[in-house]
Amino acid sequence: MRESGGRPVIVDCDPGHDDALALLLAAGDDRVRLLGVTTVAGNQTLEKTTRNALKVLGLAGVAGVPVAAGRDRPLSGELNVAEDIHGSSGLDGPVLDLPVAEVADVDGVELMRRLIVGSDEPVTLIATGPLTNVAALLTEHPEAGARVRRIVFMGGSTGRGNTTPYGEFNIVTDPEAADIVLRSGLPVTMIGLNVTHQALATEEIIAEFRAPGTRLGEFCADLMTFFASTYLRVFGFEHPPVHDPIAVASVIDPRIVRTVAAPVAVELSGTYTRGATVVDLHRRTDRDPNAEVAVGLDVDAFWRLLMASVRHLEK
Ligand code: RIB
Ligand code: CA
Repeated sequence: MRESGGRPVIVDCDPGHDDALALLLAAGDDRVRLLGVTTVAGNQTLEKTTRNALKVLGLAGVAGVPVAAGRDRPLSGELNVAEDIHGSSGLDGPVLDLPVAEVADVDGVELMRRLIVGSDEPVTLIATGPLTNVAALLTEHPEAGARVRRIVFMGGSTGRGNTTPYGEFNIVTDPEAADIVLRSGLPVTMIGLNVTHQALATEEIIAEFRAPGTRLGEFCADLMTFFASTYLRVFGFEHPPVHDPIAVASVIDPRIVRTVAAPVAVELSGTYTRGATVVDLHRRTDRDPNAEVAVGLDVDAFWRLLMASVRHLEK
């Protein structure tokens, strides 16, 4: 982990195969300074996502970054984990040692608050799971929320969904939380499936992870091999899309993700569309823009960025 003067960030995640890559990207690039990691229930239960975050950071040799568990269920409704995609552990595929670090003895939302209030410059919140923790911060600690530089979240889509026909998993899991974030008035960037589905972990990418023969490289390759099997079985994808690290990449190098300002609403009551992100790209309504919405990705630059971070952490 580089000591650096990079932009301070907190990653809120639900590891999760692609969350793991997001953590490695944030830890390995010195243009961001990983102040802390908070976990949320989503891909798996909070206990599992928290254990997975500790395992990934431990394997990457990341020390001194506090990890704290946040909310264990969405603001309303039941938690429906994505076991069909991420497995029973939430990080199936690689064999991982037990976590070396301990989870911080503080609630994840409280850790977020402390890090934001204590930071010498505004903090960017990068959320790669359901937005439950972020929404809790904004409602329970508005003074901290007001000091956030930007909220960058992987979630939603300008098109179809993945968990329901029009709903993406992170938003469908907690639509009320997403609605709070998008109504907050804070600077928000939405990285949706319309862009993340372009970042596919092909055989060549997996081979590049595996090439140096390091434990971390093997871990990434084994992660993506498992992820490929579930994406093929469930969605018929030839290669798995790595959603979450694109949110981190957009903070490290904004040139990698092209965005447009647009109004984004979250459907909360639709019989068939609850959890859909309704993005008014053509300004057909009188709603004001409330988010920068990702509409383009420099795929090659993204993979170069991620590989460079993994290679750096292997040293
Ligand atoms: O829909 C994809 C998102 O849901 C990713 O963040 C993935 O990790 C899951 O959380
Ligand atoms: Ca995730």
